[in-house]
Amino acid sequence: MAEGMTIGRSADRKEGGKKDSTALELLAHYGPVEVTRYRSATRKHFYLDAQDEWSGFEFIYVLEGKLAFEDDGKRIEFHSGDCFHHRGLPKRAYFRVEEDAILLMVSSPPSYHLVREEIQSLMALARSVEEKDAAYLHDVGKVKVPDEILNKAEPLTEEEWEEMHRHPEYGAEMLNEKEFLRTAAMIVRAHHERYDGRGYPDGLEGEEIPIEARIIAVVDTYDAITSERPYQPALGKKKALEELRNGAGSQFDARVAEAFIAMVGGDD
Ligand SMILES: [Fe+2]
Repeated sequence: MAEGMTIGRSADRKEGGKKDSTALELLAHYGPVEVTRYRSATRKHFYLDAQDEWSGFEFIYVLEGKLAFEDDGKRIEFHSGDCFHHRGLPKRAYFRVEEDAILLMVSSPPSYHLVREEIQSLMALARSVEEKDAAYLHDVGKVKVPDEILNKAEPLTEEEWEEMHRHPEYGAEMLNEKEFLRTAAMIVRAHHERYDGRGYPDGLEGEEIPIEARIIAVVDTYDAITSERPYQPALGKKKALEELRNGAGSQFDARVAEAFIAMVGGDD
């Protein structure tokens, strides 16, 4: 081995076992330059920061898989062997992984620790929610609701409902602690708002409710009805779609409810 040469070993090969669906490894760094390897499974998303969040030079080479980037109706696909680079993006660029992808990234100034911490704190949050209620990130605030309320089989008292209804605020407070989760915090806070303004915690109405929260409201209702809960057995898809149709325009944004019903399909 030549003097001064450093051989890198892939973490995949070293571990040789179970892989996470997302992994970021630092392969080499010198001064302000970092070389990282990013692996992501199909259907995951990732983004590159806009220049007001992180500015510098970034080069990305697609070693394996396929990515898609969409903006203003324009779609660009990146396949194995393609590469791209930038020196500051005017706005955040989102990518969808369409086939399991491995990317080689060169960046300056370094961003590895920043990105790694973001991924790790998100994973830790998601795990804490999963352990408690098998729910999703929008219900992260439920980790602050006592277990005896969350798992109670009998009907909740008025005070217990009040506590349960605080989970969107608790969740938003938790996410607000991280700068990069501020937008997510706003969405989490609004996921129990109703289109007619009779939801909680802020009584937002119609388009005042972020579109992401209007989508979560529909999907969450469908999931709640079709999954088994401590207080009720799972009901069928037919019942869930009926509930969405009944609530379209009052509880839910009618366009979102209709799009979801069309996507999920018939009543069988
Ligand atoms: Fe919720």
